[in-house]
Amino acid sequence: MKSDLDQLKAQIDNQVEISAWVYNFRSSGKIMFLQLRDGHGWAQAIVDESKVSAEVWQAAQSLTIESSVIVSGTVTKHPKKEEYELQVSDLQIHQLAQEYPIANKEHGVDFLMDHRHLWLRSSKQWAIQRVRNTVINSIYGYLNSNGYIKIDSPILTPNACEGTTELFEVPYFDETAYLAQSGQLYIEAAIFSHGKVFDFGPVFRAEKSKTRRHLTEFWMMDAESAWVEHAENMQIQEELIQFVAKQVVEQNAKELEILERDIEPLKKLQQPFIRMTHAEAVLKLNSLGSDIKPNEDLGGDDETLLTQDSDVPIFVEKWPAEIKAFYMKRESGNGELALCNDLIATEGFGEIIGGSQREDDYDELLKRIQEQGFPISDWQWYLDLRKYGSVPHSGFGVGLERLVGWMCGTAHVRETIPFPRTINRLRP
Ligand code: 4AD
Ligand code: MG
Repeated sequence: MKSDLDQLKAQIDNQVEISAWVYNFRSSGKIMFLQLRDGHGWAQAIVDESKVSAEVWQAAQSLTIESSVIVSGTVTKHPKKEEYELQVSDLQIHQLAQEYPIANKEHGVDFLMDHRHLWLRSSKQWAIQRVRNTVINSIYGYLNSNGYIKIDSPILTPNACEGTTELFEVPYFDETAYLAQSGQLYIEAAIFSHGKVFDFGPVFRAEKSKTRRHLTEFWMMDAESAWVEHAENMQIQEELIQFVAKQVVEQNAKELEILERDIEPLKKLQQPFIRMTHAEAVLKLNSLGSDIKPNEDLGGDDETLLTQDSDVPIFVEKWPAEIKAFYMKRESGNGELALCNDLIATEGFGEIIGGSQREDDYDELLKRIQEQGFPISDWQWYLDLRKYGSVPHSGFGVGLERLVGWMCGTAHVRETIPFPRTINRLRP
């Protein structure tokens, strides 16, 4: 009977057939121990010369790392550990792998990234992509059970969502198009049809930064809600992150163990998150030794410093409007402050969400667009949303790779996406 390596527990004493790859092997004279992986799990298969045919023994002896095999045998439990093994009776080699370039030794990151197509098979990389899958599915799960409708926003756009300095230009017949930096503006249109909406897809930023938090192509989930104001917007972000962290801890115990991820910090995320204004954050950072000024963005080091003693993420809210995007609503009675937030993760993982209440007043938004020097004709559709049944509304964008990196405890976001794109990497 065909089975998968993560299902062996239910197959004790049964004869099963597994299609797998040889992750590693060792031999002690008349017995060979094969470390198999089949995508679903990992297990040891034992080939005993005295219990198999001469052909099977010979095939086993010829194996190389990463060869693809079909193995049959009886499932047994490891005498001491909670592990299940295969006592091999038959083994067929589907393809005998050539010498595998990734050996069981330390390789530099550039080498590994050049071999990303193969590196993805390694246990830690396998675990990270499984956690990524859980994060994606739990984001969908949260949104679906809270009444959000998925609205796919365009990738080819005529103008910028998040500032004009990080745009990828694409020739578009006789004009220039830009790859989307966020679908926010477009899903704002859809709240007037559905109330609560989200998109989830790749976005592009021509980031020249070489930090461990920046990619040029990354995945963002933008959520947008009608009739939701700034404080409630943060509440939704908090619930979403708590839900995702809970799912990862529950569903990915094995993966987190492979990643040697301490799960205590993840469990603590169920407590309420901290909220502080940008001005308060600056004061706190100054007291901790940062030279950040009142009208400056938090740098990566500031984000790490700010949360260093905190078990829970920190919402840094109400930023100076001059350093935030034009579409953000201003605080009533204080036009200098934007009703926005960054959500700063714990353990030095930095900003994982950017969100805000949106300007819903036609004249105010028109003024901002004019101040930016944008051509009104390109923005009339966005202004229209403030003309026909305008409502208070808010939303936020989650950076998937940063969230996955945080859940996995992976220092650099490049390992959290299958094929990373950065300023120095377009291949493979
Ligand atoms: O804070 P950002 O720029 O917000 C927006 O784009 C809003 N339009 C979202 C919205 O309100 N719907 O980006 C959102 C998140 C950041 O908090 C960060 O996690 C991630 O996207 N991010 C990046 N991740 C990897 N590489 C980059 N270059 C990133 N830039 C932003
Ligand atoms: Mg941001």
